[in-house]
Amino acid sequence: PAQTPLAGQHVLVTSGPTHEPIDPVRYIANRSSGAQGTAIAAALLALGARVTFVTGPAEVSPPAGADIVRVETAAQMRAAVQAALPADAAVFAAAVADWHVDGAGASKIKKVAGQIPQLHLRENPDILAEVGHMTQGRPTLVVGFAAETDDVITHATAKRLRKGADWIVANDVRPETGIMGGAENEVTLITESGTETLPRMSKTDVAAALARRIATVLTKDDA
Ligand code: C5P
Repeated sequence: PAQTPLAGQHVLVTSGPTHEPIDPVRYIANRSSGAQGTAIAAALLALGARVTFVTGPAEVSPPAGADIVRVETAAQMRAAVQAALPADAAVFAAAVADWHVDGAGASKIKKVAGQIPQLHLRENPDILAEVGHMTQGRPTLVVGFAAETDDVITHATAKRLRKGADWIVANDVRPETGIMGGAENEVTLITESGTETLPRMSKTDVAAALARRIATVLTKDDA
Protein backbone atom coordinates (compact mmCIF):
# COMPACT_ATOMS: atom_id res chain seq x y z
CA PRO A 1 0.00 0.00 0.00
CA ALA A 2 1.01 3.61 -0.55
CA GLN A 3 3.08 5.18 2.22
CA THR A 4 1.08 8.39 1.93
CA PRO A 5 -2.49 7.14 1.51
CA LEU A 6 -3.87 10.49 2.68
CA ALA A 7 -2.08 12.57 0.03
CA GLY A 8 -4.55 15.14 -1.34
CA GLN A 9 -6.90 14.77 1.63
CA HIS A 10 -7.63 17.57 4.08
CA VAL A 11 -8.13 16.63 7.72
CA LEU A 12 -9.16 19.07 10.43
CA VAL A 13 -8.02 18.37 14.00
CA THR A 14 -9.03 20.28 17.13
CA SER A 15 -6.83 19.92 20.19
CA GLY A 16 -6.06 21.27 23.63
CA PRO A 17 -8.34 23.01 26.09
CA THR A 18 -10.24 26.22 25.62
CA HIS A 19 -9.89 29.07 28.06
CA GLU A 20 -12.99 31.05 28.88
CA PRO A 21 -12.16 34.41 30.45
CA ILE A 22 -13.69 35.49 33.75
CA ASP A 23 -11.86 38.80 33.46
CA PRO A 24 -8.52 39.74 31.82
CA VAL A 25 -6.48 37.70 34.31
CA ARG A 26 -8.70 34.72 35.21
CA TYR A 27 -10.28 31.93 33.23
CA ILE A 28 -12.25 28.66 33.33
CA ALA A 29 -10.73 25.68 31.54
CA ASN A 30 -10.70 21.90 31.22
CA ARG A 31 -7.63 19.83 31.95
CA SER A 32 -6.03 18.96 28.62
CA SER A 33 -2.39 18.78 27.64
CA GLY A 34 -3.12 18.58 23.92
CA ALA A 35 -0.89 15.49 23.70
CA GLN A 36 -3.38 13.11 22.06
CA GLY A 37 -4.65 15.68 19.52
CA THR A 38 -1.12 16.67 18.59
CA ALA A 39 -0.11 13.02 18.15
CA ILE A 40 -3.13 12.41 15.90
CA ALA A 41 -2.29 15.40 13.73
CA ALA A 42 1.32 14.22 13.43
CA ALA A 43 0.18 10.70 12.47
CA LEU A 44 -2.15 12.09 9.80
CA LEU A 45 0.66 14.29 8.43
CA ALA A 46 2.90 11.22 8.28
CA LEU A 47 0.31 9.52 6.07
CA GLY A 48 0.40 12.49 3.69
CA ALA A 49 -2.68 14.45 4.74
CA ARG A 50 -2.94 18.21 4.71
CA VAL A 51 -3.83 18.99 8.32
CA THR A 52 -5.47 22.08 9.75
CA PHE A 53 -4.74 22.05 13.46
CA VAL A 54 -7.01 24.25 15.54
CA THR A 55 -5.57 24.39 19.03
CA GLY A 56 -6.43 26.00 22.31
CA PRO A 57 -3.69 26.92 24.80
CA ALA A 58 -2.03 23.47 25.06
CA GLU A 59 1.05 22.34 26.95
CA VAL A 60 2.66 20.54 24.02
CA SER A 61 3.89 22.24 20.84
CA PRO A 62 1.74 21.88 17.73
CA PRO A 63 2.94 19.43 15.07
CA ALA A 64 5.37 20.70 12.46
CA GLY A 65 3.89 20.73 9.00
CA ALA A 66 0.27 21.45 9.97
CA ASP A 67 -1.61 24.65 9.21
CA ILE A 68 -1.84 25.86 12.80
CA VAL A 69 -4.67 28.07 14.03
CA ARG A 70 -4.30 29.19 17.65
CA VAL A 71 -7.45 30.05 19.55
CA GLU A 72 -8.38 30.65 23.14
CA THR A 73 -12.14 30.34 23.60
CA ALA A 74 -14.76 27.88 22.36
CA ALA A 75 -16.35 30.63 20.29
CA GLN A 76 -13.01 31.25 18.57
CA MET A 77 -12.50 27.51 18.07
CA ARG A 78 -15.90 27.21 16.42
CA ALA A 79 -15.13 30.11 14.07
CA ALA A 80 -11.75 28.59 13.18
CA VAL A 81 -13.34 25.19 12.49
CA GLN A 82 -15.99 26.74 10.25
CA ALA A 83 -13.30 28.70 8.40
CA ALA A 84 -11.20 25.55 7.89
CA LEU A 85 -14.01 23.54 6.27
CA PRO A 86 -14.46 21.80 3.90
CA ALA A 87 -12.45 18.82 5.07
CA ASP A 88 -12.46 15.15 4.15
CA ALA A 89 -12.30 14.18 7.81
CA ALA A 90 -12.52 16.06 11.09
CA VAL A 91 -11.15 14.85 14.43
CA PHE A 92 -12.37 16.70 17.51
CA ALA A 93 -9.80 15.96 20.17
CA ALA A 94 -10.13 19.30 21.97
CA ALA A 95 -11.43 19.48 25.53
CA VAL A 96 -13.80 22.36 24.96
CA ALA A 97 -15.15 24.18 28.02
CA ASP A 98 -18.87 23.61 28.34
CA TRP A 99 -19.61 27.14 29.52
CA HIS A 100 -18.30 30.66 29.19
CA VAL A 101 -18.74 33.55 31.60
CA ASP A 102 -21.46 35.87 30.48
CA GLY A 103 -20.35 39.47 30.39
CA ALA A 104 -16.64 38.85 31.04
CA GLY A 105 -15.22 42.32 30.78
CA ALA A 106 -12.06 44.28 30.25
CA SER A 107 -11.49 45.16 33.88
CA LYS A 108 -10.18 42.88 36.58
CA ILE A 109 -12.73 41.94 39.23
CA LYS A 110 -11.44 43.44 42.46
CA LYS A 111 -11.14 41.23 45.50
CA VAL A 112 -13.18 42.74 48.29
CA ALA A 113 -13.20 41.04 51.70
CA GLY A 114 -16.52 39.36 52.32
CA GLN A 115 -17.79 39.87 48.78
CA ILE A 116 -17.87 36.78 46.56
CA PRO A 117 -18.44 37.51 42.88
CA GLN A 118 -21.24 35.54 41.22
CA LEU A 119 -20.38 34.21 37.78
CA HIS A 120 -23.18 33.82 35.31
CA LEU A 121 -22.36 30.96 32.93
CA ARG A 122 -23.77 30.42 29.48
CA GLU A 123 -23.55 27.30 27.35
CA ASN A 124 -20.83 27.10 24.69
CA PRO A 125 -21.58 25.87 21.18
CA ASP A 126 -20.97 22.15 20.69
CA ILE A 127 -18.55 22.27 17.78
CA LEU A 128 -18.50 18.52 17.15
CA ALA A 129 -22.31 18.28 17.17
CA GLU A 130 -22.59 21.19 14.74
CA VAL A 131 -20.25 19.53 12.25
CA GLY A 132 -21.65 16.05 12.89
CA HIS A 133 -25.15 17.23 12.03
CA MET A 134 -24.19 19.28 8.95
CA THR A 135 -26.50 18.51 6.04
CA GLN A 136 -24.29 20.05 3.35
CA GLY A 137 -20.54 19.81 3.00
CA ARG A 138 -20.15 17.50 5.98
CA PRO A 139 -16.76 15.78 6.20
CA THR A 140 -16.90 12.14 5.12
CA LEU A 141 -15.66 11.08 8.54
CA VAL A 142 -16.41 12.95 11.78
CA VAL A 143 -14.57 11.66 14.85
CA GLY A 144 -15.27 12.76 18.42
CA PHE A 145 -13.76 11.86 21.77
CA ALA A 146 -15.46 10.89 24.98
CA ALA A 147 -13.49 11.20 28.18
CA GLU A 148 -15.54 9.41 30.80
CA THR A 149 -15.13 8.25 34.36
CA ASP A 150 -18.11 5.86 34.57
CA ASP A 151 -19.97 3.55 32.18
CA VAL A 152 -17.54 4.55 29.45
CA ILE A 153 -19.05 2.54 26.60
CA THR A 154 -22.68 3.34 27.41
CA HIS A 155 -22.07 7.07 27.60
CA ALA A 156 -19.84 7.14 24.55
CA THR A 157 -22.32 5.16 22.46
CA ALA A 158 -25.07 7.65 23.33
CA LYS A 159 -22.68 10.52 22.60
CA ARG A 160 -21.94 9.16 19.11
CA LEU A 161 -25.61 9.39 18.17
CA ARG A 162 -26.32 12.66 19.96
CA LYS A 163 -23.41 14.42 18.29
CA GLY A 164 -23.87 12.93 14.83
CA ALA A 165 -20.33 11.55 14.90
CA ASP A 166 -19.27 8.57 12.81
CA TRP A 167 -16.79 7.44 15.44
CA ILE A 168 -16.29 8.13 19.10
CA VAL A 169 -12.93 7.42 20.65
CA ALA A 170 -13.78 6.67 24.25
CA ASN A 171 -11.37 6.65 27.14
CA ASP A 172 -11.47 6.22 30.87
CA VAL A 173 -10.04 9.31 32.52
CA ARG A 174 -10.39 8.30 36.16
CA PRO A 175 -7.29 9.73 37.86
CA GLU A 176 -6.00 6.25 38.81
CA THR A 177 -5.62 5.36 35.11
CA GLY A 178 -2.89 8.03 34.77
CA ILE A 179 -4.17 8.76 31.26
CA MET A 180 -4.96 12.44 31.67
CA GLY A 181 -1.68 14.30 31.25
CA GLY A 182 0.19 11.01 30.82
CA ALA A 183 1.99 9.44 27.87
CA GLU A 184 -0.31 6.42 27.44
CA ASN A 185 -3.90 5.92 26.49
CA GLU A 186 -6.34 3.03 26.31
CA VAL A 187 -9.22 3.72 23.97
CA THR A 188 -12.32 2.03 22.67
CA LEU A 189 -13.38 2.94 19.17
CA ILE A 190 -17.16 3.13 18.83
CA THR A 191 -18.56 3.03 15.33
CA GLU A 192 -21.87 2.24 13.67
CA SER A 193 -20.86 -1.41 13.50
CA GLY A 194 -19.73 -1.88 17.09
CA THR A 195 -16.93 -1.33 19.55
CA GLU A 196 -13.26 -2.20 19.45
CA THR A 197 -11.01 -1.80 22.48
CA LEU A 198 -7.36 -1.22 21.61
CA PRO A 199 -4.66 -2.31 24.04
CA ARG A 200 -3.14 0.29 26.33
CA MET A 201 -0.26 1.91 24.47
CA SER A 202 1.49 5.24 23.99
CA LYS A 203 -0.58 8.17 22.75
CA THR A 204 1.68 8.12 19.67
CA ASP A 205 0.69 4.53 18.92
CA VAL A 206 -3.00 5.26 19.55
CA ALA A 207 -2.68 8.15 17.09
CA ALA A 208 -1.03 5.92 14.48
CA ALA A 209 -3.78 3.31 14.84
CA LEU A 210 -6.51 5.94 14.43
CA ALA A 211 -4.77 7.57 11.47
CA ARG A 212 -4.49 4.19 9.72
CA ARG A 213 -8.20 3.55 10.23
CA ILE A 214 -9.04 7.04 8.97
CA ALA A 215 -6.95 6.40 5.86
CA THR A 216 -8.79 3.13 5.28
CA VAL A 217 -12.14 4.94 5.28
CA LEU A 218 -11.02 7.89 3.16
CA THR A 219 -9.42 5.72 0.49
CA LYS A 220 -12.19 3.12 0.37
CA ASP A 221 -13.81 4.46 -2.81
CA ASP A 222 -10.54 4.86 -4.69
CA ALA A 223 -9.99 2.70 -7.73
O1 C5P B 1 -19.86 16.28 25.50
P1 C5P B 1 -18.39 16.08 25.63
O2 C5P B 1 -17.65 17.35 25.95
O3 C5P B 1 -18.00 14.96 26.54
O4 C5P B 1 -17.94 15.62 24.19
C1 C5P B 1 -16.61 15.44 23.86
C2 C5P B 1 -16.43 15.58 22.38
O5 C5P B 1 -17.14 16.69 21.86
C3 C5P B 1 -14.99 15.81 22.02
O6 C5P B 1 -14.76 15.26 20.74
C4 C5P B 1 -14.91 17.35 22.01
O7 C5P B 1 -13.85 17.81 21.21
C5 C5P B 1 -16.25 17.70 21.41
N1 C5P B 1 -16.80 18.98 21.88
C6 C5P B 1 -16.89 20.07 21.02
N2 C5P B 1 -17.46 21.25 21.45
C7 C5P B 1 -17.93 21.35 22.71
C8 C5P B 1 -17.84 20.26 23.60
C9 C5P B 1 -17.25 19.09 23.15
O8 C5P B 1 -16.47 19.97 19.87
N3 C5P B 1 -18.46 22.50 23.11
